[in-house]
Formats: sequence, structure tokens, C-alpha cells
Amino acid sequence: MDIQQELAAAQIIAAEHAHVMQTYKRGPMVLSHGQGMSVWDTDGKEYLDFMAGIAVDALGHSDPGVVAAINAQAGKLIHTSNLYHTIPQVQLAEKLTANSFADKVFFTNSGTESNEGAIKFARKFGKVHGGEDKFEIVCFDHAFHGRAIGALSLTPKEAYQAPFRPLMPGVVVAPFNSVAGLNSAITEKTCAVFVEPVQGEGGVYPATPEFLRALRARCDEVGALLVFDEVQCGLGRTGDLWAHTASGITPDIMTLAKPLAGGLPIGAILATDRVASVMNPGEHGSTFAGGPLVTAVASYVFDRINDPAFLGHVREVGQYLRERLEEINSPHIQEVRGRGLMLGVEMDIESSTVITKGYEHGLMLVGAGPNVLRLVPPLIVEKSHIDVFAERLTAILAEI
Ligand SMILES: Cc1ncc(COP(=O)(O)O)c(C=O)c1O
Repeated sequence: MDIQQELAAAQIIAAEHAHVMQTYKRGPMVLSHGQGMSVWDTDGKEYLDFMAGIAVDALGHSDPGVVAAINAQAGKLIHTSNLYHTIPQVQLAEKLTANSFADKVFFTNSGTESNEGAIKFARKFGKVHGGEDKFEIVCFDHAFHGRAIGALSLTPKEAYQAPFRPLMPGVVVAPFNSVAGLNSAITEKTCAVFVEPVQGEGGVYPATPEFLRALRARCDEVGALLVFDEVQCGLGRTGDLWAHTASGITPDIMTLAKPLAGGLPIGAILATDRVASVMNPGEHGSTFAGGPLVTAVASYVFDRINDPAFLGHVREVGQYLRERLEEINSPHIQEVRGRGLMLGVEMDIESSTVITKGYEHGLMLVGAGPNVLRLVPPLIVEKSHIDVFAERLTAILAEI
């Protein structure tokens, strides 16, 4: 390693400590550039990316089509605010509604902002259709919906919530995947139920189709909205366009973000006309949301993902990844679970230990809770990458 470069990386890390608020635990390297499934650091070391910027970089790094879409739109119009009409925003909304249960879209800039908007839509819907007392929101243990006060209130993790109490009132936490007890949690006072069809941050737990169907039935009984948070599991990650497709039921609202614009910040709230019609001009807004640059790029990304051959590839390599994981003969692996290219490996050791060793072995990994390794590689991953990954993970687990 070049001593000059090593110094440069150390200097950048020291400057980050000095000038950036210290809320993240970062890897020990400084990243420089990426291509496809690989990312390089400033010392020239290559990493195989099995975390995709936390389930964002669906098409990998520096995808030529994404780069071309960015360049084409950046030279035309980047931002105008939502006080004007633009073609890319309308085109993306048309695509999202034509390929889902939804009639209308509200654009945002992140997953959290999508869930914050969905909370407001649900509150307004409850008020309009059920009166002042219909404001409770039900969420589930292990859920993750974001870090702003509303979304955080639906994220029942003590370490995330405790420093910021009091949170939003009217939140009921129920056991995930348990049909018993739903009738007492979801009542006439409930305006909405928020659920991830595959829980991500909370440990990669897929919801059973029976659970999602029971939620739909109970929401209909009490006039509550069913909100699917597909920020992480949506848009092809499970091998279906939407993670809920396999359950055979549809929500009233679905929130999206992470992969939609190939790494540019975007989010979307998809809703039926029944929900959308309760919102009046001026009741919600966002300066940057749905701008021409991000929506033009998202249209390109959406078309790439919403292709039967692309989704078939995700299912095929997802199955292969699962098989290769199940073949690893390590006493540390206790369970492999998940769907498509969203797999969790439950271990008897800390995921942070494996992630740190991963850097040494040229692997970028992410955890989901203290003992779960979350495998969310770019959706373009090939079997040859999975072979390299399995070899390196086997070596890491053998060393621990
Ligand atoms: C299911 C789910 N919802 C919401 C969020 C929050 O998204 P963001 O970090 O873009 O605000 C995340 C982020 O990990 C998520 O996984």
C-alpha cells in the first residue's frame, strides 16, 4: 500500500471526525468509485458489494443507462419545485400507478418522508371517515419505518426511541406474524396499520401471506387503511415487482424509496383514489420531491426492473444465493431466511464482527440487528459473484 495514499485516507477519516456529526459507525476505508458489483477505496482495494448502499443500488454502480439518464436530464432541467408541471414526474407516476393497485402518487425524497406522508394521509382519512377519535396507528415488533418523529414512533426499538420521547401519541405495537390478538390491537379507533411485507432492519423476517390477509380483513372490518412499507422490500428485491404480490392482497397505501432512482434520493407514496381524495391542495408538500432529474432517472430504473426477464433473474440468483448459504458448513450459522435477494443469516456471533472481517476479505456487508447478516446485493448480481461471496464468507466464519 502506498504510504501517501494511506496517509490521505487517514486524513480524510480524521477530518470526517472533526467536521461531520458523529451519528454513523463507518467502515475503516474511504470509498472512491464503483463499477457494477464492485467498489474501490482510495487505496485501490476492491470490494464485492453485497449491501448495495443498504438495498439501494439495484442496478449496481455506474450503470451506463443510469449515467446516461442522469446526463440527459441534468442538461435539460434539474429542479423547478412542485409549483409547476414537468413531464418526467407525470411519466413516472403513470408507470407506478399502471403497475400497481394505486391510482395516485405523492413524491417524496426518502423512505422516512414517504412514511411521514402516509401517517398524515391516514390521520386525515381517519378524521374524515371516522371522526376525531380515529387516529390510532398499529405497527409491529421488529418494524423499521424511519427516524423522524412520526416514523420513529412506528419503529418500536428502545435504543432508537428512548432518547427522543415523548413521541407521537396513539401508536399500538402488536406481535408480527401473529393473527391472534389482531382484533384487540386493530379497533374502530385505528386509522391505519403499517407493515413491511418483508421486515428489513428488524432482522429480515418475511410476513406470512396468512398474516397479511388477516390484516386486510381486520382493516376492512374497522375501516382502517392498510399501509405496506415497501421502502426496502419493494421494486424487484423479492423477485416480484412488489413484495406483497405473492400474498394476493393489496394495500390502500404503499411507501417506496431506496432503489427507485438508482441511488439518487427519491421516495413515493402510492395510494388509492379513496385515500388520495381526502387530501386537499396545501395540506402536504415537499420542495425537492418528484423533481425532473430524479423522476427521469427513476423512470429508467423502473423500466429496467419491471421486466419479466430481470425479475426472473432476481428469483434465480436469489435461490442460488440461498443454496450457497445453506451449503456453508459453519456452526455460527443458525438460520437463513428471507425472499429473493433479501436474505438474512441468523448467527450465534455479532454481525459487526463479520462485517469488519468482510472489509479485510474485500466484501461489503450490512447487518440487520446484532446477530443477523443482511444480504441485499445489487439485483444485477450474477452466480459467479455469489460464488466469490460464498468463498469469502466461508473463510471469514472459519476465522472467527
Ligand atoms: C422498511 C423501511 N422503511 C423506511 C426506511 C427509512 O428510509 P430512509 O432511510 O430512506 O429514510 C427504511 C430504511 O432502511 C426501511 O428499511
